[in-house]
Amino acid sequence: MLKRLRVGVLASGGGTNLQAIMDNCAAGRINAEVVVVISDVECGALERTRKAGIPAEHIDRRDKKRYPTREAFDRAVLERLRAQDAELVCLAGYLRVMTPELVDAYAGRMMNIHPALLPSFGGQGMWGHHVHQAVLDYGCKVSGCTVHFVWLETDGGPVILQSAVPVEEGDTPDTLAARILPHEHELYSQAIQLFAEGRLKIEGRRVHILPAASQ
Ligand code: GRF
Repeated sequence: MLKRLRVGVLASGGGTNLQAIMDNCAAGRINAEVVVVISDVECGALERTRKAGIPAEHIDRRDKKRYPTREAFDRAVLERLRAQDAELVCLAGYLRVMTPELVDAYAGRMMNIHPALLPSFGGQGMWGHHVHQAVLDYGCKVSGCTVHFVWLETDGGPVILQSAVPVEEGDTPDTLAARILPHEHELYSQAIQLFAEGRLKIEGRRVHILPAASQ
């Protein structure tokens, strides 16, 4: 069996994407292991991490003594990722804007999931129900989710995988989010597995998916 990819996850919310990743790792559906989960707030994601017996790190964003600047905060994040030899970083509902130092340290090795079809309905302020509300307000008939590599520009990096989901008559932000979420869980693990297999090649804005190695 190939060496398992060491994944660090950054999360600020309930952690259902994190849970799907941990479950798929445990089931052998992705050749990876979550080695650390870091959060800026106490949240469901950290609880799930502790339950799974994986190192959970709460770096308190309100602790201005220790982390007076964004740079100091991100240095602490980077330290913990490196302490666990994380090879890939997955943002799963992580709500902090990151510094160039952190993004550059994991250039081409950091992914995010966004609950819409980028480049529509992404960027600053487009998170959680705001995304789905904007999709409904625009009158879109299709939404979905996107896994992409992380660049400094929020939600702006090269797209790895996308999944389309229909918008239905009478949808609310909650019903649309609930329809999209299982697709997120599936898509994120697929992207991580492709990365683990060395099959993602970034060329400018494009991510080429290389064929599977023949047995
Ligand atoms: C997901 O919709 C994800 O796309 C977005 O934040 C949400 C996180 O949900 N970035 P969860 O914490 O994984 O349940």
